[in-house]
Amino acid sequence: MYQPKQVTTPRGTDKDSLYRAALEEIRGRLEHTTGIIPRMATVAAVLKNTLPHFFWCGFYFAEEDELVIGPYQGTSACANIAYSGVCGTAAKREETVVVPDVHQFPGHIPCDDTSQSEIVVPVKDEEGRVIAVFDVDATKVNAFDDVDKKYLEEIIPIVLEK
Ligand code: SME
Repeated sequence: MYQPKQVTTPRGTDKDSLYRAALEEIRGRLEHTTGIIPRMATVAAVLKNTLPHFFWCGFYFAEEDELVIGPYQGTSACANIAYSGVCGTAAKREETVVVPDVHQFPGHIPCDDTSQSEIVVPVKDEEGRVIAVFDVDATKVNAFDDVDKKYLEEIIPIVLEK
């Protein structure tokens, strides 16, 4: 059973420190967690509860004709979305997509009108195939930068380690 460590020194509140804390907690919690759904659910919960700019975050599974909702945290989301949106674009390009203002992204699929900016990171299997994406929404424009991209690209592949 994962026991969060006693924090003896004050933890930084900058984005970099928060991501490092989230990464440490995720590694600890997933040490004895097998199965993609439990692992995805844990990653989404830790990130949502650690990063204050995460309004919504969660996984979509890449099916043949659409993306289908997986574990997520936040307001109720669309269960099935077309490949035309930000998630589908990241899945098709097989790379992270950062959208500073969702209203400027042709094809953006709004699941909650509060969302203003978004980052989507693909989840790739051992053969490099995109099997899912991790989507994060924020209520402010320009909420995501290279720090988010760097840490999410380090954290998200952990879901497939066991
Ligand atoms: N905005 C996404 C759809 C998913 S919701 O944001 C949760 C898209 O354009 O693909």
